[in-house]
Amino acid sequence: MPRPAADESVRAGGDVAAGECQGLQPLGRRRRTSWGASHGVWLGLILAMLAASGCRQDMHDQPKYKGYRISHFFDDKRSVRPPIEGTVARGHLDEDEGFFTGTRAGALLQDLPFPVDGEVMARGRERYNAFCSPCHDRVGNGGGIVVLRGYKAPRSFHMDEVRRLPVGYYFQVMSTGFGVMPSYAAQISPRDRWVIAAYIRALQVSQSATLDDVPDSERAALEKADD
Ligand code: HEC
Repeated sequence: MPRPAADESVRAGGDVAAGECQGLQPLGRRRRTSWGASHGVWLGLILAMLAASGCRQDMHDQPKYKGYRISHFFDDKRSVRPPIEGTVARGHLDEDEGFFTGTRAGALLQDLPFPVDGEVMARGRERYNAFCSPCHDRVGNGGGIVVLRGYKAPRSFHMDEVRRLPVGYYFQVMSTGFGVMPSYAAQISPRDRWVIAAYIRALQVSQSATLDDVPDSERAALEKADD
């Protein structure tokens, strides 16, 4: 319907609106008809799909095991198969026996498997204070806060027989646990276990050092401080 001129629409008022409304009606009717038709099509489609799914279940019944379900195929009845012997997880070749176990050919390592520098010592102190000092205390005497609250007291790291133990021993205790002390293998990486062992060695030296261990350049200053 052609739009009325501006002045006409002012005069005609409600009539123009009514005309426009009527003009829309056929469209409304057409919409209802097409919806009714597509409704039928959809119904047919759904019925067809239902019928089809009744005959073809193979996507649902796949020949597979659900997690941990019993298996009647394997002798041990496990559907989840254990890894083949000798399987190595990605990133865990762990070839360096000394580094990963603390022993080489059955003997505990006497030295760290990598060089020690200031950075190693700083990390060792930080890790030791976080993980070990609650029981072994910051110096290694075995009087940490957990022990003061009743936990079994470990031997002091400064007893002669403990001091004489090879550094690989400390690595091993952290890796496997010792008596009531749990293993820290899950929390502390192998490298950090070595780094902590190096720091324990430094603590041991610090607690049993004599004036002879001090370099000449520092000795004079120490002797003066003693006076
Ligand atoms: C929850 C307390 C606790 C924490 C934390 C702890 N330990 Fe211990 N540790 C003990 C106790 C207790 C023993 C003695 C266990 C026993 O005799 O049954 C022990 C024993 C040891 C020994 C053996 C000492 C010996 O007499 O031969 C070493 C080495 C050691 N701990 C190192 C560490 C290091 C390194 C850490 C930190 C990574 C650590 N521990 C953290 C409680 C703890």
